[in-house]
Amino acid sequence: MAFHSTVRRERYRELWPQLDALTGQESDLIANLANAAAAIRQAFGFFWVGFYLVREQELVLGPFQGPVACTRIAHGRGVCGTAWAENRAICVEDVDQFPGHIACSSESRSEVVVPICVDGSVVAILDIDSDRLSDFDAVDVEELQHFATMASGWFATIKPNQEVPPDAMNRMPC
Ligand code: SME
Repeated sequence: MAFHSTVRRERYRELWPQLDALTGQESDLIANLANAAAAIRQAFGFFWVGFYLVREQELVLGPFQGPVACTRIAHGRGVCGTAWAENRAICVEDVDQFPGHIACSSESRSEVVVPICVDGSVVAILDIDSDRLSDFDAVDVEELQHFATMASGWFATIKPNQEVPPDAMNRMPC
């Protein structure tokens, strides 16, 4: 990863082609999400960057970069669960002012959360935390929504052998 601009919008625009090159030939969802979390954090030095994956009735922690985080978030709970329930991006200037905010770390001060959708349904949530107040604005939301469109392709191309159907486990000899 190489960056020249210190202007956030421009830095996003330096990041996306590099991330596209990094993930374009890779079909494994987890590998691509892991590199995306690392690349976004490397580009901006955010406190925490990661993904929560929709698993039945809750969000489950996926690939991330940063300190340990809570593993499960219920539908409609916290910033991430609200973004999932309402299928919309949420920009939080001060996490202490967001009713029901789930504090994985006391160092997180502001947050931006963007849903990733396939065919109109939320399949994952991108969550970014900053240790600075009001670190995110409409530029971040717009650019990260662009990223979410790119990332939705990684979910759409999950190969059949990446997901083992539940009944297949019963048929496997021990
Ligand atoms: N603050 C989030 C929880 C996830 S952590 O920030 C990594 C929320 O309120 O949903």
